[in-house]
Order: sequence, then C-alpha cells, then structure tokens
Amino acid sequence: MNTNIQIAKDIYWAGKIDDREVPFHRLVLAKGTTYNSYLLKTGKPTVIDTVDIEFGREFAELISSMIDPLDIAYIVINHTEPDHSGGLAALAAQATNATIVCTEIAVPELQEMYKLHGRNFLIVKDGDTLDIGGKTLLFKETPYLHTEETMITYCVEDKILFPCDIFSTHVAVKQLFDDEAGFDITEDFKGYYSAIIHPHRRYVRTLMDAVRDLDIQMIAPSHGFILREDVRKYIGLYDSMSRDTMQGKKAAIVYTTIKNNTKKMANLLRDALTENGIETEVWDADKSPAADILASIISADAVFVGSSTRYADMIGNLETILKELLTMNLEGKLAAAFGSYGWSGEAIEVIHDYLKQTNMTVQSTSDVIKSTGMTHVEFPIRVRFSPKDAEKAQKIKHAADFVSDLLLSSL
Ligand code: FEO
Repeated sequence: MNTNIQIAKDIYWAGKIDDREVPFHRLVLAKGTTYNSYLLKTGKPTVIDTVDIEFGREFAELISSMIDPLDIAYIVINHTEPDHSGGLAALAAQATNATIVCTEIAVPELQEMYKLHGRNFLIVKDGDTLDIGGKTLLFKETPYLHTEETMITYCVEDKILFPCDIFSTHVAVKQLFDDEAGFDITEDFKGYYSAIIHPHRRYVRTLMDAVRDLDIQMIAPSHGFILREDVRKYIGLYDSMSRDTMQGKKAAIVYTTIKNNTKKMANLLRDALTENGIETEVWDADKSPAADILASIISADAVFVGSSTRYADMIGNLETILKELLTMNLEGKLAAAFGSYGWSGEAIEVIHDYLKQTNMTVQSTSDVIKSTGMTHVEFPIRVRFSPKDAEKAQKIKHAADFVSDLLLSSL
C-alpha cells in the first residue's frame, strides 16, 4: 500500500487497491475496485471509513505505520457494509481510545458484526458537526443510499465530501484522482451509478438536498477515483440520472373486500401512485363490469390485485377476473398482489400464484431483496386488519413507490 497519497492538508488516503475481478452484489467487477479510507491527521486524529473485511489486518498495519493508533480519536463509519467497515475490528483493537462515529441505526450493526459492544460510540444526526481539532466534520444522513444507516461526511475547512459508496467508481486505479486517470471516467462513473445507486434513485433526491448548499471542491468516495476536476458535473449526473424519465404511465387496481380494509389498501395504493404521477383506476370486482376491469388492465402498465381472505380463499368475483388474465397477453406489465387479512391471508398468496401464471412481471420480496438489497419493500403487500396505522400505511406506500420508480425510469 502506498502511504504517501495526500489529498489535502493533513488528509491522507489509506486504502487498498483490489485489482482482482471482485465478486460483488452478484456482479463481477471486471476492473476490480479500491477501498478508500482516509486518515485526517488533525488535533484529534480521525479515520473516515476502512477497507474490505478481507484486508482488515493489512489496513490496521497501514494505519499504524502512519500514526500511533492510540492517538486516533475518532473512526467515522459512513456505511456498515463490510467492504468499508471491514477494517474496523482490526483497527479498533489497536485504536483503543477511538470513539466510533456513525448513525443510530449503524450502532447495533457494527456492535454485532465486529463484537464492539464495549466500545464508545458517538451517534450523529443529520446536520451534526464534530470538531476534530483544526477541522470540522459535518454529517448528513442519506438513508437507503444504498442502505438504511448510510450517512455522508463533509470536511468544512477543506470543502471535501466523503460520501462512501456514493459518487464511486469500481476501478482498481493506481492514479487516484480523476484528472490523472488518463481517460474519461464518465462511463465508469455512470456504470457504478446504474448498478449500485439507481435502484435507490428516489433517495438520490435526499442526497441532492443534502449537498445543494455545500461548497464541494473535492469528492473523496470509498471506491475508485477521487473527484476534483469537475465536481459539479458528477453531482449533476446523479441529479439527472435519478430523475423520472418516463411519462403517461397507468395502473389498474382491482380488489374485493369484506370489511373495507382491502378497499382502504386499494385507495392508499391509488393515492401513492397518483402522487407519483401514475394515472390510476380502482375497481371493486364485485361492483364493476368485468369488461371494464379487463379494459383497464389492458391499458395499464402496472396491475395490483387484492382480496380479503375468507376461509383461506379469495372472495367475490375476483377469481373470474384472474382466470381471464390467464388467457391474455400481458407482457411488459408489472403486477403485485395485496390484501388485508385477520389470520393467515391465504387469498393474497393465491392471487400471487395466479399472477405468476400470467406473463406479467410479478413483484416479490425475494426479487426486491436480490435486485436492490432493500428490506423495507415487501410483495405481496399484506396488512393484518385495518391499514389505518402509520406503519401499515407506510408499507403500502413503499410498495407503490417501488413500482412507480420502476415505471418512471428508462435506465
Ligand atoms: Fe461499497 Fe455498500 O459497499
């Protein structure tokens, strides 16, 4: 490892270049990657992020060659995924005076992952600052970019943003700065965005709010190039790539209901979809002509089908509609099952199975987790009894937002 890369006064790169074809998020990083950690040799020396868990001991040795680890006051962990927090256990074992700085959600994750229950943690919230002796760190929470606990760190005096995964590239570069790359890094930058950040593009809007008023002269991410040549261009790319690019999308929601709880779910789905700009029609299958419902489904880009459960099955006319769907070409449409239930909610699963027999792309929790890592978006959408309380309503909104984001992006 090269220990002489200074990125600003008293700020040093202390990372690891991994030039293997690294397996990552079910991709193989053909160009490898880097794990960029930064040592700020201030009055209260601070390490920002670490390296992949595989290189933890090597990382701790590197830091020890740059500073007496007992002098380290803070270790900032922006994101707990082990390619950045993986060196924490080895470093913390030597930096026994260091306080670990992270969001509240990150604390139990780090404690459990690295057996750090006895260590001092400093929980920071959005907008908090920390004096590290000659420099000031400002923290902004950026949840779901790309995991819930994520934050970014900004060094006020040097105008450097340390955003961990965000604004990264997966390239095992030896020339760390973008203006020393010898080629245009834009495609690598966009490729990283598409693979890692875009599934969470809704939350890039939060990021844009967070960085809007910051004077950023350099972005020092935790993979690949450090950006200093045209920082606003890269922020602008995130802004433009994360925006909706499709218009005129439609949804059809079809349901049957016993005590109006599934109807309430249908209406909450409609409200969220409409708010996202999706033109949405809602149909009670027991009160509407089947021909009208089927016409609405044919013209829709997303189809939600729900029922209350009675005696382990759907109720009313819904099965007639579902049987019709099996005879239709519905290619290209998204679909999801939903419903309110009191005990087991079998009807929701029966609907899900019906939808899977069509040629629509049926949303499932398993696919969401595998494709995005999100655990707060669940399909089928199941709510026990009334969807009135905020947590249940939020669950419905998360599902509607997820489908909306799929419909409204062409990337
Ligand atoms: Fe580079 Fe989310 O880890």
